[in-house]
Amino acid sequence: MRIEKTDFGVTPAGERVAQFTLDGGPGIVAKLIEYGATLTSLEAPDRQGEIGPVVLGFDTLEHYLNCGAYLGATVGRFANRIADGSFLLEGRTHQLTRNEGRHHLHGGDRGFDQAVWRGEAIETGDEVGVRFHYCSRDGEEGYPGELDVSVSYRLDRSGGLRIDYRATTDRATPVNLAHHSYFNLSSGGATPVLSHEVGIEADDYLVIDGEGIPTGELRPVEGTPLDFRSPHTLGSRIDALVASRSGYDHTFALRSRGSEPTLAARVTDAETGRILEVLTTQPGLQLYSGNFLDGSLIGRGGVAYRRWNAFCLEAQHFPDSPNHPSFPSSVLKPGEVYAHSVVYRLGVHR
Ligand code: GLA
Repeated sequence: MRIEKTDFGVTPAGERVAQFTLDGGPGIVAKLIEYGATLTSLEAPDRQGEIGPVVLGFDTLEHYLNCGAYLGATVGRFANRIADGSFLLEGRTHQLTRNEGRHHLHGGDRGFDQAVWRGEAIETGDEVGVRFHYCSRDGEEGYPGELDVSVSYRLDRSGGLRIDYRATTDRATPVNLAHHSYFNLSSGGATPVLSHEVGIEADDYLVIDGEGIPTGELRPVEGTPLDFRSPHTLGSRIDALVASRSGYDHTFALRSRGSEPTLAARVTDAETGRILEVLTTQPGLQLYSGNFLDGSLIGRGGVAYRRWNAFCLEAQHFPDSPNHPSFPSSVLKPGEVYAHSVVYRLGVHR
């Protein structure tokens, strides 16, 4: 196992951005940069032992500065949507930046995906990793309180990439930190993922309106295109969702949650034999089928990223939870520690 730190580039504001390469041993290599605490590359063996990319990404900082699709980024202070960018907390209404029509999406105009974090290498006997740190100032994008955040990525010998989120605040604030990698287990993004088989550990999903805002209602997945209790290919029922959301862009209410990550989803690609398991402590899982990729982003190897050429499985709190008292609380108070984890585990099916 090995870790290497190199220069990745300099932002227009003159901040240096480092890249960390984590070599996990059995063919699994992850690359991370300080800009957005972003996973830029993840490679894993297929059934034949051939190493290839499993996430979408770019080789230069310029591409990340102009991306707009949160490729591999750490999303916050609040991932997903907050209706009208507004919420009431401790008797005060807070107005956040509205960056998706009248709503707030993924932390605003300059979310955590665009912040320059500081990374330090982690090396233990069984793991290599990097811990990124960022301090979000009071009032940033409209959020109350100074939030001190760390995100640690650790690669173990069994093909698991574990991400641990920690945060503390000096005023009550909503917090929802999510990882936004786009996966493609067969071609790194050159071909559709519609034949990937997906299983999700959820009996219910969150009902949303036409703008992706939860109504507050949870409904059984049974009898809908969101029923992944037994595995289905991504493509088998996606057409039914084109008119409303251009594909999958939905939150699942996970069956179990605890202080240790438990299985949330499992994706297999019959062609390469690659398997991805997602484990988390979070209550929700967003399945997004890359609906807004339109071929204009040209990624690593000159590949044009098109609609449905990748999927995201974003473990997170329920969207708009600051406005839904019935949802699990996403409020962090002074003296408390926000702690969540997600594990992306790669393997092969022989
Ligand atoms: C999430 C959202 C999508 C979209 C993507 C980023 O998955 O739910 O609607 O905003 O992020 O493009």
